[in-house]
Amino acid sequence: MTGSAGFREAMGRFASGVTVVTTLDGAGLPIGCTISAFSSLSLTPPLVLFCVGRDRYSHDDLTGSARFAVNVLAESQADLALSFARFDPERFQRNSWRPGEHGIPLFTGCIASVECDTVRVLDGGDHSIVLGEVTEVHLAEGEPLIYSRGAFGGFLGPSAPGFVSEPAVAESPPEWLLSAPW
Ligand SMILES: Cc1cc2nc3c(=O)[nH]c(=O)nc-3n(C[C@H](O)[C@H](O)[C@H](O)COP(=O)(O)O)c2cc1C
Repeated sequence: MTGSAGFREAMGRFASGVTVVTTLDGAGLPIGCTISAFSSLSLTPPLVLFCVGRDRYSHDDLTGSARFAVNVLAESQADLALSFARFDPERFQRNSWRPGEHGIPLFTGCIASVECDTVRVLDGGDHSIVLGEVTEVHLAEGEPLIYSRGAFGGFLGPSAPGFVSEPAVAESPPEWLLSAPW
């Protein structure tokens, strides 16, 4: 299989977590977009990145803002993910959130939210790559929402066949793991 269909199929097999990246527009109104193309990048300094399509309504606000927040969704938040993946003018009214240190929305029920200063925006073909330095971290209990092949699911955890617990890896951590931000 070649071409864009094969590319999409292959990329869809890469399972990821799901985030809603938020910021404020020039008028101070909340902006958000569901983003799975999110990654930690560096531990020192603490950097993250996300990729946003140039044709997204939120693109210019997400790439032009001095700050943003990344909300890591819990298993129960597929509705929140869908709400920020389509046109839904009521989404900031229907979903509970609180303002972060600089007023940027942090959603209730997320297992993690990180507030970031934008440090660089890079060209990424039909997407932009936004690098941010983490300034605040918020954590809550829960399991992550997982996305793969166009469907949402949960992380099976210790009861799943083949599960490898972190302590087993930690017995003899490889060099790269010691310096990784995840
Ligand atoms: C699970 C999931 C993950 C997504 N990940 C991304 C992503 O990483 N980058 C992106 O630009 N769009 C992504 N999208 C698509 C956007 O969320 C979608 O196009 C949204 O409608 C854009 O909103 P806007 O045009 O109002 O800004 C994703 C959608 C879903 C459902």
